[in-house]
This record gives sequence, structure tokens and C-alpha cells, in this order.
Amino acid sequence: MRLLHLGTLLIVLIGCCWAPALAAEPPAATDGKVKARIDFYGESLCPDCRNFTATLDRRGEAGRSGLLGEGQFNDWVDLRYVAWGNVKNITDNTTGEVTYKCQHGPEECFFNNIINCAQALYPVQSKWFPFVACMEAGLNRTAADAGEREQNWETTEICAEAHELSAADLQACAEGPQGAELQQKAAEETWNLVPPHTFVPWVLVNGVPLGFAAQDVDRPVCAAIGGPGAGKPPLCATINERLLNETCTWWYA
Ligand SMILES: *[C@@H]1O[C@H](CO)[C@@H](O)[C@H](O)[C@H]1NC(C)=O
Ligand SMILES: *[C@@H]1O[C@H](CO)[C@@H](O)[C@H](O)[C@H]1NC(C)=O
Ligand SMILES: *[C@@H]1O[C@H](CO)[C@@H](O)[C@H](O)[C@H]1NC(C)=O
Ligand SMILES: *[C@@H]1O[C@H](CO)[C@@H](O)[C@H](O)[C@H]1NC(C)=O
Ligand SMILES: *[C@@H]1O[C@H](CO)[C@@H](O)[C@H](O)[C@H]1NC(C)=O
Repeated sequence: MRLLHLGTLLIVLIGCCWAPALAAEPPAATDGKVKARIDFYGESLCPDCRNFTATLDRRGEAGRSGLLGEGQFNDWVDLRYVAWGNVKNITDNTTGEVTYKCQHGPEECFFNNIINCAQALYPVQSKWFPFVACMEAGLNRTAADAGEREQNWETTEICAEAHELSAADLQACAEGPQGAELQQKAAEETWNLVPPHTFVPWVLVNGVPLGFAAQDVDRPVCAAIGGPGAGKPPLCATINERLLNETCTWWYA
């Protein structure tokens, strides 16, 4: 644990120094609340990315309370999920044409597009995110690895229906020019990261990369949010207590 924290400290320190160069400003305060911005660079089929999505969604906990407790996530966090990650460039040596190879195969590219499309078609976070979290929780990696779309598409349709999104519109976007355009945008944003991502999920809070501390994303989020008179979600109180109890107060370093 201590080792991890020291490693994290380095990453955080580097993060601090690089931060002014990054464009991501904290979102403007509404109702006196200062929100946190999470930029999540990930992939639809990467296990740790799916774990991170589930962490934000707190899937499996009673009542699916979300990161900051019941009904608090959308009030305090502006989330973006840039679905691209560790995609490889493949250059054809004879024609020079560049194509892309997703880390977990072609099915991953398709579901990445669905994630990018969900945000473009349904920009309201309380709409797109529960859908993406539902889909991510349900995707069957074995089927995807075998190139089988049917079962995972059924999951996508069930999640879309549950959260009142149109699966047909999502599919048309993912397979059409809009999906390609969004994919290119996600690619360029990922390539342009400073410092570059070294693994996924690569998570930034208010422009500062968390490195391995992404596992404990609630801590930097709780540190960032608040505002005069707005307080913080009750769950943050116990997180801060946990922080103070640790000998290495790395996050505030
Ligand atoms: C994510 O992974 C960690 C470490 O393996 C595990 O403890 C945690 O329960 C997982 N979280 C979810 C929501 O799956
Ligand atoms: C892929 O190509 C882009 C654009 O030329 C470049 O910025 C990026 O670093 C390349 N990615 C990898 C993983 O090589
Ligand atoms: C293309 O060229 C690169 C570098 O010369 C080489 O490593 C790669 O194997 C070649 N790819 C194919 C498909 O021939
Ligand atoms: C996942 O897909 C594989 C291959 O189609 C299948 O054998 C397996 O039963 C599926 N797992 C679940 C939990 O549905
Ligand atoms: C923090 O430490 C205090 C004193 O040792 C203890 O009473 C408290 O339960 C701890 N809090 C947490 C969240 O671990």
C-alpha cells in the first residue's frame, strides 16, 4: 500500500506541474456547488475500465447509489467518457493507409462507438451514463472475443430500453459517419493527452491525471467539490476521515 502511495505521489506531483497546461477547467459552480470534472479515457471491453464504470455507478450496492451516495453523482460530477484507449495504428506498407486495431478486438471498437454515440445523442449525463454503466456491466467478453455480436447487442438493447434511449439510433450512429467522426475525435483527444496515458482506465479529475489512484476516485472528487454554503455529500465526510487516518496523506501533498 505504502509503495503504491509513493508511486501515486509521484504521479500526482507530476500531475500538479503539468496541470496548468491542460484545458480542463473545473466546471462552473451551480447553486453554489463547485462540481468536479472527471475525464475518463477507456475502452468498452477492458476489465479495469468496466470496473471503473461500475465504481462510478456503484452497481451491485443496494439501491445503486452512485459514487457519492444516493442521487449525488449527477449533482456534483461532470463526467466524460472518451472511448478509444490503447488502439493501435496499423499502417499498410504498400498503400500507406492507416487503420486502427482495438486492444480487445473489433467488437470493442463497435461498443466504444456506442459509448461515444450515447454521449453525443443523449448529452444529459443522467441519461447516457446509467445506460453505459448498464451495458458495460452486461457485456460478455467471451462472446466479443469470438466475434459474436448478437448476445452483446441484446444486452445493449435491454439497457437502452431500460433507460429510454433508442438502440436503433445508437446503432445507426455507431456504424455510420457520425460514429466515425466521434471515434476520430476520441482518438485525437487521447493522442493529445499531456502527459500521455500509460494505461487504461486513465482518469483525470479537473485535468489532473490520477494514475493508479483512479481506484479511489472518490477521494480527489470529494477534495475538489464543495463551495460556500453548499457543503459536500455526506459520504465525503467518512472519506476525509479515512484520509486523515492514513500516515501518508498523499493526495493533499
Ligand atoms: C474493482 O476491482 C477492485 C479490485 O480488484 C475490487 O475490489 C472491486 O470490488 C471492483 N469494483 C467493482 C465495482 O467491480
Ligand atoms: C497513432 O497515430 C497518431 C496520429 O498519427 C499518433 O498521434 C499516435 O501517437 C499513434 N498511436 C500509437 C499508439 O502509435
Ligand atoms: C511493414 O513494415 C514494418 C517496418 O518496416 C514491419 O515491421 C512490418 O512487419 C511490415 N508489415 C507488413 C504487414 O508487412
Ligand atoms: C458468454 O458467451 C459465451 C460464448 O457465446 C457463452 O458460452 C457464455 O455462456 C456466455 N456467458 C454468459 C454469462 O452469458
Ligand atoms: C480514524 O481513526 C480514529 C481514531 O483512531 C477512529 O476512531 C476512526 O474510527 C477512524 N476512522 C476511519 C474512517 O477509519
